[in-house]
Amino acid sequence: MKLTMVGSGYVGLVTGACFAETGNEVISLDVDERKIAMLNRGESPIYEPGLSEMIQRNADAGRLEFTTDKTAAYKDAEVIFICVGTPSDTDGSADLQYVLSVAGDIADVIDTLGPDQKPKTVVVKSTVPVGTSHKVRDLIRSRTNAPFHIADNPEFLKEGDAISDFMKPDRVVCGVESEEASATMSELYEPFVRQGNPIYIMDVRSAEMVKYASNAMLACKISFVNEISRLCEAYGADVKNVREGMCADKRIGNQFLYPGLGYGGSCFPKDTLAVCSMGRAVDLPCKLNEAVHEVNQAQRGWFYNKITEVLGEDLTGKTLAFWGVAFKPKTDDIRESPSVALMQMAIDAGAKVKAFCPEGLENMKVEFPAAEAADGMYECLAGADALVVATEWNEFRSPDFEKIAAMLSSKTIFDGRNVYRRSQMADLGFTYVSVGRPPVTPAADGSHASA
Ligand SMILES: NC(=O)c1ccc[n+]([C@@H]2O[C@H](COP(=O)([O-])OP(=O)(O)OC[C@H]3O[C@@H](n4cnc5c(N)ncnc54)[C@H](O)[C@@H]3O)[C@@H](O)[C@H]2O)c1
Repeated sequence: MKLTMVGSGYVGLVTGACFAETGNEVISLDVDERKIAMLNRGESPIYEPGLSEMIQRNADAGRLEFTTDKTAAYKDAEVIFICVGTPSDTDGSADLQYVLSVAGDIADVIDTLGPDQKPKTVVVKSTVPVGTSHKVRDLIRSRTNAPFHIADNPEFLKEGDAISDFMKPDRVVCGVESEEASATMSELYEPFVRQGNPIYIMDVRSAEMVKYASNAMLACKISFVNEISRLCEAYGADVKNVREGMCADKRIGNQFLYPGLGYGGSCFPKDTLAVCSMGRAVDLPCKLNEAVHEVNQAQRGWFYNKITEVLGEDLTGKTLAFWGVAFKPKTDDIRESPSVALMQMAIDAGAKVKAFCPEGLENMKVEFPAAEAADGMYECLAGADALVVATEWNEFRSPDFEKIAAMLSSKTIFDGRNVYRRSQMADLGFTYVSVGRPPVTPAADGSHASA
């Protein structure tokens, strides 16, 4: 099939590359000329494991093209996927300006093709409040008599595992209003669900709601375990043990129940706020979701207070080394990253901040130049008083602790992701502070104690 992806970001690029991989002819459109120029040079503007290779392979095979030319991108497409951003507006609602502007562009192009054209299917893949796909449909209808179908197809990929999530989805959800759109979407996704994972064809509004309900549930699990971790600290319990005991219950499961610095990224924070906003719009306050957001945002300050408890409120003259800038491992995405929020708090208190991240440094240099970028994880420690582990990249899991101890002036680790074992930290003589677990402090006589 001939497909157009509107927006060549995390979702548009992965979706386009994966559809090209199964033999479709894909055009990836963006208004960002820098991104398209990079893609046309064979470079990916984002880091996602396996994506560059997949883009290159399909571009070389002539199945994947990149353009800023809207008319060229829309005129021959059988299916158009809208994959542009839906960031939070100032009141927390989803800002739909990019989605609706694309709808206008599509209307203008299909209007020129006349009434005899084969109807295109316009698919909203961006995460949008319930009713938005109908707004897209109505806007296009208001501008042209040309025939088209509308569908909503929320995306569930997670950055860092996006390719495998897309190639082997737990489920595909499609909201449709016509038999034709249903058949088109089923045919497109058929290669991805050969192992029996379901395609749910449903009404458009329900499909839109599935995405928010799913993200709200996952965000809720993270805030839940973070709240429990605070209780563990207050009562001297160890959240690692609590988690194990709790997660053995199959009804609870063990996914998304890791205490830490809270969620970040471009989805959970804005989607939780959008759910609250949808509730306010119909006079149904979403109190649980409001609390999920509140607990999440407070988690950063909660952890920052642990840093000042050890180092003091005034961090002037102190240098903190941060490992991890991206909001989670295996991505370069630093949007709403708890690491960046923590770095800002430390800088506001007078600290100098150095950071290393396997993939997030280039974005940090642009978006958060207040932190100094280090060339490597150990280079980051030079001249630092303490280490903050802010993102659990694999390379941070088994570091050379003797080297860390020798380089840090205060031999202190603040572990925001509970990556290290407390017993190990005690044996090595570190002051070690983590989440939901008693801190490890070297005793005055050289032995080690948990306070
Ligand atoms: N990032 C994720 O992990 C993820 C997962 C599932 C769903 N989503 C949802 O998918 C949507 C896109 O997210 P993303 O992370 O890919 O965003 P992104 O910011 O990485 O990419 C969006 C792209 O759209 C382009 N764009 C904006 N207006 C345009 C226009 N008029 N024509 C063509 N291109 C235009 C931008 O230049 C940008 O490159 C959002 O609604 C998001 O909530 C994201």
